[in-house]
Amino acid sequence: MKTLFSGIQPSGIPTIGNYIGALKQFVYIQDEYDCYFCIVDQHAITVPQDKTALRNNIRSLAALYLASGLDPEKVTLFIQSEVPAHAQAGWMLTTIATIGELERMTQYKDKAKDRKDGIPAGLLTYPPLMAADILLYGTDIVPVGDDQKQHLELTRDLATRFNQRYNDILTLPEVRLPEVGGRVMSLQEPTKKMSKSDTNTKGFISLLDPPATVAKKIKSAVTDSDGIVKFDKDNKPGISNLLSIYSIISDITIAELEEKYEGKGYGDFKADLAEVMVNFITQFQEKYNYYMDSEELDHILDRGAEKAAYKANKMLKKMENAMGLGRKRK
Ligand code: TYM
Repeated sequence: MKTLFSGIQPSGIPTIGNYIGALKQFVYIQDEYDCYFCIVDQHAITVPQDKTALRNNIRSLAALYLASGLDPEKVTLFIQSEVPAHAQAGWMLTTIATIGELERMTQYKDKAKDRKDGIPAGLLTYPPLMAADILLYGTDIVPVGDDQKQHLELTRDLATRFNQRYNDILTLPEVRLPEVGGRVMSLQEPTKKMSKSDTNTKGFISLLDPPATVAKKIKSAVTDSDGIVKFDKDNKPGISNLLSIYSIISDITIAELEEKYEGKGYGDFKADLAEVMVNFITQFQEKYNYYMDSEELDHILDRGAEKAAYKANKMLKKMENAMGLGRKRK
C-alpha cells in the first residue's frame, strides 16, 4: 500500500478553505493509502503564537480532523512535536538547502513582509522542515491546496539532492491537488486566498463559527452586479468562489448548480447556500464537540505518535547513516 502524508498548522481555527482544500480530500482517499496526518505545531511557531491559544488549537485541530470523517482505526493522526525525528531530519535537510531557493518561496515572501520586528529565521527554514515531515515516511503522495505546490517542488529537489549526494534512500513524493476548491477565496476580497489569519473575519468561514454567523457571512459575501449565477473565475470571482464552495459541500456539480439557478438572482442562490452551509457546520460541530469532550482523542493521539515515531525513526537512522552522523560502535 502506498503512503500518504499531509499536515495542517494549528495557527488558528481552520476555515472552510482548509476543509475543502485539505480535510475533505483526506477523507475521500483514506481507504486507498497508508495515511499519516500531522498537526504541525513546530511550523506554527515560525511566527509568534500565544502559548495558551496554541495548546488549545493543537487539540482542537485533532478533533477537527476526526470531525471531518477520518477513521482513527485506519489513519495515523499525530502531533509533530511529539515525534522528534521531524526536527532532527528537518535540520539535516536545512543544511542541504540554499538560502537562494528558500528566499524564492512565495509563502516566505508573503509572511516576511508582514513582520515589522525582524524576520524569524524559522520562517525562511520552514520548507526543509516540511520536506522532513514528508520524506521521513517514504511518502508517495501529498494532498494539499494550491498554495503548497511550490513547497512540494522544493521537497522533491531536496530529496533528489540528498539521494545524489549521500545515498539513494528518499522517495520523491507526488503532489495531489483538488480538482475543484484548491484555492478557496476570501468572501470579501474574492481575488485573495481565504485565510484563517485574515484580519477581516467576514472574509472567512471558520469551522467553529456559530451557524448563524456562517449564514450571515454567506449573505454578505461580495459578488458582482450582473446577477447571473455562472462560473467565470476571471470576470466573476465572487460568485465563482461561492459556486465552488456550494458544489463541494453539497456534492452537486457546478454545471448542475448553474442550471438550477438560471433566471434566479443572487438572493435565492445565497439563501440556499447559507442553508446548506448551516446544515453542514451544525453536523460537523456535533462531531467536533464529541471528540473535544472525550479522552478517546488523547488515546488516538498517543497511539498516533507512537506509530509515527516507529516509522520516522527508521528513516532518520538511514539518513544519519547516509550523511555520516553519529558513530559506528566497535
Ligand atoms: P496550512 O496550515 O496553511 O493549510 C492546511 C491545508 O489547507 C490548504 N489550504 C487551502 N486550500 C484551499 N483554499 C484555501 N483558501 C486554503 N488555505 C489553506 C493548504 O494548501 C494545506 O493543504 N505548510 C503547510 C503545512 C504542512 C504540510 C506538511 C502539508 C507542514 N508540513 C507536509 C503537507 C505535507 C501549511 O502551512 O498548510
